[in-house]
This record gives sequence, C-alpha cells and structure tokens, in this order.
Amino acid sequence: MNALLIAGTDTDTGKTVLTSALMAYWRTFQPDRSLGLMKLMQTGTGDRELYAELFGLSPDITTPLHFQAPLAPPIAAQQEGRQVDLERVWTHFEQMHQRYDWVLVEALGGLGSPVDGQTTVADLAWDWHLPTVLVVPVRLGAIAQAVANVALARQAKVNLRGIVLNCLSPEAEAAIAHLAPPKLIRSLTQMPVLGTLPYLENPKDLEKLAHAAAHLQLESLIPV
Ligand SMILES: Nc1ncnc2c1ncn2[C@@H]1O[C@H](COP(=O)(O)OP(=O)(O)OP(=O)(O)O)[C@@H](O)[C@H]1O
Ligand SMILES: [Mg+2]
Repeated sequence: MNALLIAGTDTDTGKTVLTSALMAYWRTFQPDRSLGLMKLMQTGTGDRELYAELFGLSPDITTPLHFQAPLAPPIAAQQEGRQVDLERVWTHFEQMHQRYDWVLVEALGGLGSPVDGQTTVADLAWDWHLPTVLVVPVRLGAIAQAVANVALARQAKVNLRGIVLNCLSPEAEAAIAHLAPPKLIRSLTQMPVLGTLPYLENPKDLEKLAHAAAHLQLESLIPV
C-alpha cells in the first residue's frame, strides 16, 4: 500500500507538522515521484488552508469533507444537519491512491477519535489497510498517551509502523529523557521509535521541514 496515515495521540500533537515535513522531504529528495496529500476530513479551519499555503494544493482536493464547527466530525456534521459521508472520502482516497506514487493522509484528533458514529480513526486505518505512524508530543503524560494509543492500535489491528516524537516547545528537546524517553516508550509499547522532530521556530520553512524528516528512520514509512 503506497499510502501512509499520519495519526496522533491527540489533537494538536504535530500531525500536520510531520505531514508537511514528509511532503517537503519527498518534493526535495524524490522530485521525480508524485505525492498526493489528504486530510481525512476537517472540522473548522486550519490544515487545508495551511496545505494550500505551503504546497499550493486546492483545499477541496486536500479535504473532500469539511464541516464548519471545530468539533469531532459526527458532532460537527449533526450541527449542520448532515452526515459524515465516509464513502465519499474513501472514493477520493482511492482515486488519489491510483494516481500518485505515494499518498499521505493526515488523520484527525487521536487514534480513538470518531470519524463517524460507528468508526474511530483506528477502525478506519484497519479498514483501509493504511500503514500508520503515530505522532507523540514530548510533554508530561506522553508515555501514557503512547502506551494507550498503541494498545488501541493493536486492538483495532492497525498496521502501525512506529512512533515519531515531536517537540512542541523549545524546551522539549532538552527534556526528552525526562518526558518521553524513546527506550522506555519502545520497551513499553514494543513499537519502534523512528526519531524525533525538533522544535521548529518556523514550522512553515520547507527546507527545515525536509531536513527534519530526513533525520527520521523513514525506511518503514516510505514506499521503495
Ligand atoms: N516541531 C514543532 N515545532 C514548532 N511548532 C510545532 C511543532 N509541532 C507542532 N507545532 C505547532 O503546534 C501546533 C499544533 O501542531 P499541528 O497543527 O501539527 O497538530 P495536529 O496534530 O495536526 O492538530 P490537528 O488535530 O488540529 O490536526 C501548530 O501551531 C504547530 O505549528
Ligand atoms: Mg493537523
């Protein structure tokens, strides 16, 4: 499967920053191979607008499904008297998957977040056979979040390839050993830690993003 789901332990953990880093990496180091980018669905504003700004992608192509309220999709949909049309998102993904050499799919929220009334992000990752990477933010509570999300991934039979730690603050880098030690996370989850995204003063700097991705162990994430 030439696709990757970028999931997180929660909202605001750095899924967009990792997705942007992988996108920038691919464009820099694999210029002859095509890459599609999708945000599974978006509630409120944010990612689709940012991807348009960074990569010139049309928001309607990045995000087939969009709701106004910044809430969980089934709740945001209900507020508009709509339903979450997962079939439409799947069709969109299928088209991208056939068209591009690699497709990045940014998830929403955490692995346990609902995409519709019956389905979590983890369920969808399994159902769509998506290789998945889990972004864990370096902060107090990171270890428990990593353990809980990996346990959910196992229960839902997600093809989880590994964990990427993300430094959300300038202080995080120096505090990794205290807040999110890779060795401990690896031994508790039995999941590889594929590296750490540093704190980026400007998370829109494509050159810095590409180099941040280049420092991750990408072998198990990118197609050969
Ligand atoms: N490594 C980093 N360096 C600097 N800022 C970061 C880093 N990672 C995340 N941020 C900032 O933290 C905020 C949340 O990150 P991001 O938007 O990537 O989270 P997310 O998991 O995609 O959230 P959502 O669930 O809303 O999609 C953003 O303002 C982002 O720029
Ligand atoms: Mg995001």
